[in-house]
Amino acid sequence: MTDRLTIRRPDDWHVHLRDGAMLGHVAKYTAAQFARAIIMPNLSPPVTTAKEGAAYRDRIRAAVPGMDFTPLIVAYLTDHSDPDEMARGHAEGVFTAAKLYPAHATTGSAHGVTDIAKIMPVLERMAEIGMPLLIHGEVTDHDVDIFDREAVFIDRTLKGLVRDLPELKIVFEHITTSEAVDFVKAAPANVAATITPQHLHINRNAMLVGGIRPHAYCLPVAKREAHRLAVRAAAVSGSPKFFLGTDSAPHAVHTKEAACGCAGIFNAPFALESYIAVFDEEGALDKFEGFASEHGPNFYGLPLNGGTVTLERGETVVPDRCGEVVPFHAGETLGWRLA
Ligand code: NCD
Ligand code: ZN
Ligand code: ZN
Repeated sequence: MTDRLTIRRPDDWHVHLRDGAMLGHVAKYTAAQFARAIIMPNLSPPVTTAKEGAAYRDRIRAAVPGMDFTPLIVAYLTDHSDPDEMARGHAEGVFTAAKLYPAHATTGSAHGVTDIAKIMPVLERMAEIGMPLLIHGEVTDHDVDIFDREAVFIDRTLKGLVRDLPELKIVFEHITTSEAVDFVKAAPANVAATITPQHLHINRNAMLVGGIRPHAYCLPVAKREAHRLAVRAAAVSGSPKFFLGTDSAPHAVHTKEAACGCAGIFNAPFALESYIAVFDEEGALDKFEGFASEHGPNFYGLPLNGGTVTLERGETVVPDRCGEVVPFHAGETLGWRLA
């Protein structure tokens, strides 16, 4: 039995660090676990220009003084995004990627894209310059059941996009369904996906059995067990198309425990301990380094990190609170710890 695992330093390819006081509180957790992270731009107002992106990057760096951590900034696409601004931000090294939020699909997406046709000139330019498109892949049509919104997005939007822009690098973020797994596997090499810890650990029962549990609620919402198993199989498969993206999304406790609670699970403090438990349960510890530290940078065309982290068997007691935020696995004990 493997009791210790040393891997190349990992990265988080999808995280929400927020701004202001919340940034000051949560950034250290991500910086303690990961060398780099793709920082989601759904602030209010969102990060849409290279100037705003550079200023946000400075605020993130200032929030983790002395820590060896590189924030990778992402542009938030709107109906009015300008291809030249995106290309300039990318060329200046500010924007690593751009994010497509269908308008009103999730937290902080009110300024998102209402119709993908409106941003085709931007997407064409991104394909030309090799700038990845990151997608929150859910339709927002009111006639589509919330549990079907990811699968319907594949049929209504993603298939056409991959067909029309075959050169565009696409990351299908935080996938939750067997349909998404199958789609990404069958797509060409320029289509990949991130996978969160929560979608590996929980199915929709975690939200609803024995009472309603707002801290298990995020978007895309957790699905049936069969979907969780498909996502787990993809994560541990060793395929370079699947990599780590926590989607850690902190919300203050009173905004989660409310009549209309916010979507988002805060998993940053124990993300690696949470992921490795899954790889261990699946007998796939040998696949963990690829998922956490290699597939992401290889997809983005970035260098692998130097340095290593070591995880070992041992208790990690997850507290009920980290400040004003309830962490994923609150009150549980995980079977691995950072050495
Ligand atoms: C995220 C957030 O709170 O910003 N919430 C979530 O449930 N995942 C937004 C997102 O990633 O969709
Ligand atoms: Zn999202
Ligand atoms: Zn997210």
